[in-house]
Amino acid sequence: MENFNFYSPTEFVFGRDRENETGKYVKKYGGTRVLIHYGSGSAVRSGLLDRVKKSLDSEEIFYTELGGVKPNPRDTLVYEGIEICRRENIDFILCVGGGSVIDSAKGIAAGALYDGDFWDFYTDKAEIEKALPVGTVLTIAAAGSEGSGASVVTQESTKLKRDTGSDLLRPKFSVLNPQLTCTLPAFQTACGAADIMAHVFERYFTNTAEVEITDRLCEAVLLTMIKETPRVIADPDNYEARANIMWAGTVAHNDIVGVGRIQDWNSHAIEHELSGMYDVAHGAGLAVIMPSWMEFVMSHNIMRFAQMAVRVFGCQMNFENPEVTAKGGIRAFRSFLHSIGLPVNFAELGAREEDIPALVKNLGLGDGKTGGFVNLSSDDVAEIYRIAVNAKA
Ligand code: NZQ
Ligand code: ZN
Repeated sequence: MENFNFYSPTEFVFGRDRENETGKYVKKYGGTRVLIHYGSGSAVRSGLLDRVKKSLDSEEIFYTELGGVKPNPRDTLVYEGIEICRRENIDFILCVGGGSVIDSAKGIAAGALYDGDFWDFYTDKAEIEKALPVGTVLTIAAAGSEGSGASVVTQESTKLKRDTGSDLLRPKFSVLNPQLTCTLPAFQTACGAADIMAHVFERYFTNTAEVEITDRLCEAVLLTMIKETPRVIADPDNYEARANIMWAGTVAHNDIVGVGRIQDWNSHAIEHELSGMYDVAHGAGLAVIMPSWMEFVMSHNIMRFAQMAVRVFGCQMNFENPEVTAKGGIRAFRSFLHSIGLPVNFAELGAREEDIPALVKNLGLGDGKTGGFVNLSSDDVAEIYRIAVNAKA
């Protein structure tokens, strides 16, 4: 096992109706002048935004608002948010929404206290040294941003989607009420499930030996998702299944299942070029990319893929030819994704084979390599995209 620090300072406030306590937690973490940040309307339509405002009112906390975050959040709105924070002397950002809202808020939080262009953090030109505190009221189980130090933003003018990270961006608190996810369209629920599973797989496929505890934690999250996702697709109001998925989404990405091992993250990098270029949902892009990446790298460690196939997808171990088992596991993963309504190839996603050179170029590897479980070159990445073009469930 590798040496590690585990730092997850976020207070998770979990359960029914807990959004009504938001004001109390904003106060606890020092918020007196709040920017409420939200998306394109679901939180307004459901009445959630009003309930959150009411809880701020009851604590007599000042707030102003910035809505309109789109999925794959744009830099343009982040600039607007930074402006508001400076003008209004904001000291706390409250997100009401999903990963896109939270990531946009994190960009604002870091940018508001930085003299330069906030985009510097996303292009490795600068490191985050200060950030406004952020709290969240989560409405979709997916990105795990409610417990992570990461933020992913798309630059509108170039369509480049880039990430940054810092412990300073980890939310002070996150309200997780599974009831709030019942209004999600089935497709968004499924995209969230794919993202949660991908966050686990990015950690599961490692070259670090003997990480039994995190292997087993990873498998537990994956098995939970395989059991609960079809249940909520069939019965969107199933609170218990929603609750299991919501907590799975958080533990999949606050790194408790990833510590002590070298992680991969190549599927995410390869996917981000798709959601950057075509503005597709991140989870849908992952459903297309991740099994294709698995097929491409499988031979690097057949036994690890066979282990995944047996323990997670219940495949029979073929001791004479473990490759058969490994392939069976990948097939089962792709079929699962398809069964919950996700695309599994370029055409279903709305991506084009002729764009592969541009996607590879945008990834910016040049002659370099990615690192991770398997060190990929630009040619390797192009091959993974090609596998994804023709993939079938
Ligand atoms: O904008 P509204 O109207 O709220 O609609 C959203 C949006 O259209 C809708 N939605 C959310 N909650 C809802 C709801 N609709 C009805 N009822 C509800 N309760 O769902 C749509 C998707 O929302 P979004 O926030 O984009 O989803 P998600 O949480 O999947 O976030 C995706 C973004 O997170 C990034 C992705 O790249 C993508 O940009 N990621 C962030 C990570 C991080 N910060 O740690 C890690 C991830 O790997 C990921 O890359
Ligand atoms: Zn993700």
